[in-house]
Amino acid sequence: QPATHTPALVIGSGYGAAVAALRLGQAGIQTLVLEMGRLWDTPAGDGKVFCSTSAPDQRSMWFRTRTEAPLATFLWLDVVNKSISPYPGVLDRVNYGDMSVYVGRGVGGGSLVNGGMAVTPRRDYFAEVLPQVDAAEMYGTYFPRANAMLGVNTVDPAWFESTEWYKFARTSRKAAQNAGLKTVFVPNVYDFGYMRREAAGTATKSALAGEVIYGNNYGKRSVDKTYLAAALGTGRVTIETLHHVRAIRRQPDGTYVVTADRTDLTGKVVETREIGCGKLFLGAGSLGTTELLLRARETGALPALDPAVGTGWGTNGNIMTARANHMWDTVGANEATMPALGIDDWDNAANPVFAEIAPLPMGFEHWVSLYLAITKNPQRGTFTYDPATDSARLNWTKAQNQPSVDATKRLFDRINLKNATIYRYDLFGNNTPFADDFCYHPLGGCPLGRATDGYGRVKGYPGLYVTDGALVPGSIGVNPFVTITALAERNLERVLAEDFAA
Ligand code: FDA
Repeated sequence: QPATHTPALVIGSGYGAAVAALRLGQAGIQTLVLEMGRLWDTPAGDGKVFCSTSAPDQRSMWFRTRTEAPLATFLWLDVVNKSISPYPGVLDRVNYGDMSVYVGRGVGGGSLVNGGMAVTPRRDYFAEVLPQVDAAEMYGTYFPRANAMLGVNTVDPAWFESTEWYKFARTSRKAAQNAGLKTVFVPNVYDFGYMRREAAGTATKSALAGEVIYGNNYGKRSVDKTYLAAALGTGRVTIETLHHVRAIRRQPDGTYVVTADRTDLTGKVVETREIGCGKLFLGAGSLGTTELLLRARETGALPALDPAVGTGWGTNGNIMTARANHMWDTVGANEATMPALGIDDWDNAANPVFAEIAPLPMGFEHWVSLYLAITKNPQRGTFTYDPATDSARLNWTKAQNQPSVDATKRLFDRINLKNATIYRYDLFGNNTPFADDFCYHPLGGCPLGRATDGYGRVKGYPGLYVTDGALVPGSIGVNPFVTITALAERNLERVLAEDFAA
């Protein structure tokens, strides 16, 4: 028997994990959360918790000697990435051949590094992607619950129209409207009231100081400040950091044991722990959760896991692209890092695209309009277990991303044609205006209703649950964290009512 036993254990501390921790704690169940990253609450020598984007240090990325930012070059120049020392930094880029995936590391997971865009998906598309989930219940109860808990808010339209910080978005909107396209305001978890104080000079700048992918020092309602703070407040939840879970097995009595490496800040394993638990919730994200279950199936630890574990993975159709505006269509030297506007052409059945108007805060006028397009790509990837490295490998080819590139190109060709503008070729490497080799929205790997039952209970293993983005089968049509959170709320409510009664 392992030395430590807890009634409930949660692996990871992103959106899905944070919902599990809070609802378990509120139900009076003693819960331990294991997170491989560190807790981001202590200022370093420079007085800041997170490093700046323009001068990144070891805090920026997960055990790297050089940063790997999404936009690597400007005017083809290698001016963005910097040498750093290896450290458990907050942003990771997991590289799998033709596809790299950005993820957050630390207490709060992706919420520490993301753009905060908090979008409830279109109901018709949600119902198409997850037909087994009662949409009326989701839109009546769980999406509102998730939005409230996450602290979602919207920009004041009058301020948006007048501030220099969103000039870039207004310029992109004008170009879209010239092509007959519709734009919509996008809610965010960044506190827009705080942002206005930043603009007024009465609060320390964060979103207005270029901070986002390496963490926001102020203003951002990441889940460590919302769900996880509330979870700790129940008095029943404990979080252990720098614990990398490697293996899961089941005891004859039906309880689970996880093996976790406790590491120090150099990455050295200082202890390998075995922790037993009655119920085990996997919230390690699409990549992390899928790898843990795949490894368990393929090594024989949990041999009855469904063949659907490791399938149904997608990029949410992510493609970044950029256009050059005319000299008279300036974007401004000052750009807020939190997107507030999107081009919504999802209704166009021939080419559905939702494109967030993204900032490119360089501190000088560059005339660039940057976008993250979310497209409807039917391609799905699978994971295979590699015994030599004891890790999951993503099978995803460049050709599988072509439908996303084509859809993005069709939309932005329209915009370029009507505005007599061109793409920018200097930002993503390889002289292409379409970044098709990375994504921010990994989804799937343990699809709901296939690898699990309709509520995230892992098939074949009572007491084992998936609670994160691994459940969403590859696409949701908008930025995904509100969906991940709301689905976790729904599943936890059911599991707490039915599986903990006895
Ligand atoms: P998430 O990835 O958040 O959390 C998983 C956690 O588990 C991590 O903390 C990880 O360290 C930990 N973990 C993994 N394996 C482990 C192991 N073996 N042992 C212990 N811990 C382990 N979405 C959106 O809706 N709006 C947006 O604006 C953006 N923008 C954006 C920008 C960038 C740069 C990124 C990287 C991502 C986004 N996203 C986004 C995506 C969003 O952040 C993402 O969908 C969610 O964070 C996924 O939530 P999960 O709960 O699935 O896992």
